[in-house]
Amino acid sequence: MNAIKIGLLGLGNIGTGTYKTLEMNRKQIEANTGLSIEIVKILEKDVGRKRDISVSHDQFTQNPDDILLDPSIDIVIELLGGIEPASGFMLKALENKKHVVTANKAAVAANFDDFMDAAKRNHVMFRYEASVGGGIPILNALTTALLANKFEEILGIVNGTTNYILTQMTEYGLDYADVLKVAQEKGFAEADPTADVEGIDVANKLSILISLVFGIRVTTNEIPTEGITKISKDDIALADKFGYKIKLLATAKKVGDQLEAHVQPAFVPKDHPLAAVSNEFNAIFVTGNAVDDLMFYGKGAGPLPTGSAVMGDVIEISRAIAKNAAFDHHTESKAVKMLRYVGEGQNKYYVNMMVKDVPGVLGGISTTFGAFGIGVDSVLQLSKDVNTNREVPLIFILHEVTRARLDEALDKIGSSKFASEIKSIIRVM
Ligand code: HSE
Repeated sequence: MNAIKIGLLGLGNIGTGTYKTLEMNRKQIEANTGLSIEIVKILEKDVGRKRDISVSHDQFTQNPDDILLDPSIDIVIELLGGIEPASGFMLKALENKKHVVTANKAAVAANFDDFMDAAKRNHVMFRYEASVGGGIPILNALTTALLANKFEEILGIVNGTTNYILTQMTEYGLDYADVLKVAQEKGFAEADPTADVEGIDVANKLSILISLVFGIRVTTNEIPTEGITKISKDDIALADKFGYKIKLLATAKKVGDQLEAHVQPAFVPKDHPLAAVSNEFNAIFVTGNAVDDLMFYGKGAGPLPTGSAVMGDVIEISRAIAKNAAFDHHTESKAVKMLRYVGEGQNKYYVNMMVKDVPGVLGGISTTFGAFGIGVDSVLQLSKDVNTNREVPLIFILHEVTRARLDEALDKIGSSKFASEIKSIIRVM
């Protein structure tokens, strides 16, 4: 039986899940592939941690070069997380003719071209299925089974932490801060949740998806990104009244020869399949011109789901090594390279503001929107929620407009005699 040797960088939660996936299903993997896959060395400082796997002390090393420069190692799995030193290690492995598998979305999004170039130059494979959607095989589907399609749009819920928080806020009518605290206690949110709750993790994943689907590089920093920290339980209750759920969405859409993309909380119609994606689950919704609408749904995080995706990549590469054909690189789409990235496009918006409960206010505000070319779709005044200053919440759903234009109009309204506070602005899908 052909033996494939693996060096693993990082034996934290995901590393342990990957190791366990191989351990649990070794017989089946060997029967299916005719290959024996062995994790022979592990770079990990925390040697003493109790883990639910049978790993021996001889497998551990503290020196990355014991893996990156070992000529007997075929594939390096990188599960350290963070951009550096992980990216440097992966590039060194590729330059040393090792195939690389990673789950690290921050590193892949930051150095996509460098990894692709190094893999191509060195005739090795670079795979990163687990970096987007955890266990959901979305990258594989987009780059194999769906290659016969042109894609118009990708919509995704690709962060389990924020989807869990928004779901709990929706189901129990709770505020963001209270749910975050419980999520941290239960291990659904990190002690420092910034990358998740500010949408950065989602922007990394969207940058990777755009590279594969639309063939252009849009870096994480170029994607207009807003997290969920400003969403209130009132916004969620009002979304419900209008027939929507609030979700943190990654969106990339082709409009003519332009590509629009953003990461923002959005009102999702309750009858859209993405509205039913709850708690830590992820889903990616794509529309191909042949296949039509498709939704990929599953666990976007966690040791075993992520381990499943990592091992899938490892097995794909191992099979290619056995056939002496392990030299392709993950094909990003070239067909739509003429697309021009324009950032955020036009959207419908929900705006919640506090206004004086006096005659002429509604007319004055609508006239200002009109002067900026913004049409009103629906309006709701909550007179029962009047405060001690005789101000009431006034809620608009507005027709398509750019966010810049909307902000100009709201600046004018906010500084007028009518409105005392613009409480929230949320995109409507
Ligand atoms: N922090 C990420 C999430 C982990 O909550 O989805 C998976 O990328």
